[in-house]
Amino acid sequence: MIILGIESSCDETSAAVIDEQKVYANIIASQMVHAQFGGVVPELASRAHLRKVAPIVQEALQTAGKSIEDIDGIAVTHGPGLVGALLVGLNFAKGLALSRGIPFIGVNHMEGHIYGNLLTHPQARFPILFVIVSGGHTQLVVMRGHLQYEIIGSTRDDAVGEAFDKTAKTLGLGYPGGPEIDRLAKQGDPTKIRFPRAFLKDDHYDFSYSGLKTAVRTHIQKLTPEDLRENLPSICAAFQFAAIDVLVQKASRAARAYGVVALAVAGGVAANSYLRQRLEQSADENGLEFYKPELEFCSDNAAMIARAGMERIKHGESSNQSLNAFPSLKLTSFLSPSMVAR
Ligand code: KG4
Ligand code: ZN
Repeated sequence: MIILGIESSCDETSAAVIDEQKVYANIIASQMVHAQFGGVVPELASRAHLRKVAPIVQEALQTAGKSIEDIDGIAVTHGPGLVGALLVGLNFAKGLALSRGIPFIGVNHMEGHIYGNLLTHPQARFPILFVIVSGGHTQLVVMRGHLQYEIIGSTRDDAVGEAFDKTAKTLGLGYPGGPEIDRLAKQGDPTKIRFPRAFLKDDHYDFSYSGLKTAVRTHIQKLTPEDLRENLPSICAAFQFAAIDVLVQKASRAARAYGVVALAVAGGVAANSYLRQRLEQSADENGLEFYKPELEFCSDNAAMIARAGMERIKHGESSNQSLNAFPSLKLTSFLSPSMVAR
């Protein structure tokens, strides 16, 4: 089964061609137009997707050495994300599927991130405790088998990637700020300043990152420009330490409570070197396997969408032409037709 994947939920236009064995192509075009605004401008994102989607799909087919006749099905993100951006990819996929007479499937972007990890770990054992961390989401999910999810915790305000990006902006760094903070933190002392860790001792698995962001802002207001420049690496390291400490401690606790056999990380922030290192260490200490995605499958890409869509198509699911885009689509398990009928 050869699947064409299309992703356009935010500021990356991506197309991929995969089958069960291999990723033949995973083309990602990042939109540079947003950098000057320090964040994604929805209207500009939609327009850039419109310009890019057809040539990127063509490039993916060409790189894969396949033609459109070789494609057995199309998987496309239909939420969560920016509605205008989602509609571009979704409508392109619908039109292509209709003209070729092949099935298409709408994929949840967060399920895509999970399957981005499983592209790297096709032999993964279940149940897995997934730490899903992106620009829009922070979730702990127990995955009991393919397409089976239980969300046990989420952020109550900012997502962790959003906290990295907003803090980077406060510190005068570029967008997206996550990679910049990751890089600078390596030269700093994470214990020089202690930033707050929300809900660390609470027994639920929810998160809050808006207080941490504000704490950094309040801290730097007291500094002269020279002090800020000199202390920038340590501020980044202390911020990253606080943000990730909560994630790792809660994930470890949840892994023990839910009796999983593995810890896994997914989403754009899964590229963070300190998070990868801390989660690996925690998995080791708890006798768990650790699954981290290759960097290519961390940030938004269509290979992960194709892989998730393939799993749903294998289970007999497909979407129809009336499928809409949903900006706040929730992650839901696959229900077999017999379960739905009951
Ligand atoms: O999954 P993603 O590409 O897009 C969304 O679905 O939101 O995630 C993007 C987020 C951004 O907030 C970006 O700053 C963050 O991932 N990110 C990182 C790193 N690389 C990307 N955050 C921390 N450290 C990194 N190395
Ligand atoms: Zn994403």
